Amino acid sequence: MPIVHEDAGFVDRPSTSNQPTLEVTNLSFAYPDGHQALFDVSLAIGAGEKVALVGPNGAGKSTLMLHLNGLLSGDGTLAVAGLPIAKENLPLIRSKVGMVFQNPDDQLFSPTVFDDVAFGPLHMGYPEDEVRQRVGKALSQVGMADFEQRLSHHLSIGQKKRVAIATVLSMDPEILVLDEPSAGLDPRARRSLINLLRELPLTMLISTHDMLLVQELFPRMIVMDEGCVVADGETAVLLQDTQFLEAHGLEMPVPTVGHTR
Ligand SMILES: Nc1ncnc2c1ncn2[C@@H]1O[C@H](COP(=O)(O)OP(=O)(O)OP(=O)(O)O)[C@@H](O)[C@H]1O
Ligand SMILES: [Mg+2]
Repeated sequence: MPIVHEDAGFVDRPSTSNQPTLEVTNLSFAYPDGHQALFDVSLAIGAGEKVALVGPNGAGKSTLMLHLNGLLSGDGTLAVAGLPIAKENLPLIRSKVGMVFQNPDDQLFSPTVFDDVAFGPLHMGYPEDEVRQRVGKALSQVGMADFEQRLSHHLSIGQKKRVAIATVLSMDPEILVLDEPSAGLDPRARRSLINLLRELPLTMLISTHDMLLVQELFPRMIVMDEGCVVADGETAVLLQDTQFLEAHGLEMPVPTVGHTR
């Protein structure tokens, strides 16, 4: 059975948030093959909050995220920016939630990088000039400004990941839901992603195994294990509880001192 962490408590949300921007209540979900991936998950994220979602492989992080723009639908209630996730609200919800999938190949489907990043703004009916400007800005935000005419499916994994992030930035979303955005990035790209996420004044839920990223960027973290939320609290508090981290397959990397032969 998953362990519920009792000490961390629930974090006070910033005073800017009267109403949660992301609200999940008693969500349970089983895949069509019968595998139950989420058990009674509840969480609420206020406007402008930056929250990390962590937990071991198979914990249910991606499954939860796919519910946040209606790609999966389980039992329970979900609301985004005050809108219940229901079929009639999905177009509006998808324009507000920028979702980056764990696998960039699920996100990139156009011939060129430009087309992929332009897809959202074009779909929203922006004029050509604005689409070009949005694509240029989003690609430079992820350090891929020179890649507009490259073929998306020929990029390296880290480059694909960066373009996948640009495909949502070009939509100017209110909420970012990023599934392991730093996986596969080189140190420089990872650093500029951290700086970008720090500067963007958006509500964020970001799943990651990169605990240093969590420590650096997210005051609050939600821990999932075996389909349940096992803790939701202050990162600084939770990261000090080595027993708790160990129980859920998490650990802070130990800094190495030099290299010995
Ligand atoms: N399409 C599917 N059909 C059946 N089971 C699935 C499917 N996708 C995921 N699962 C199962 O659901 C559980 C949760 O998977 P999920 O991908 O949400 O985990 P995760 O926390 O994102 O893991 P990771 O850290 O590896 O990305 C796992 O046991 C997984 O095997
Ligand atoms: Mg995942």
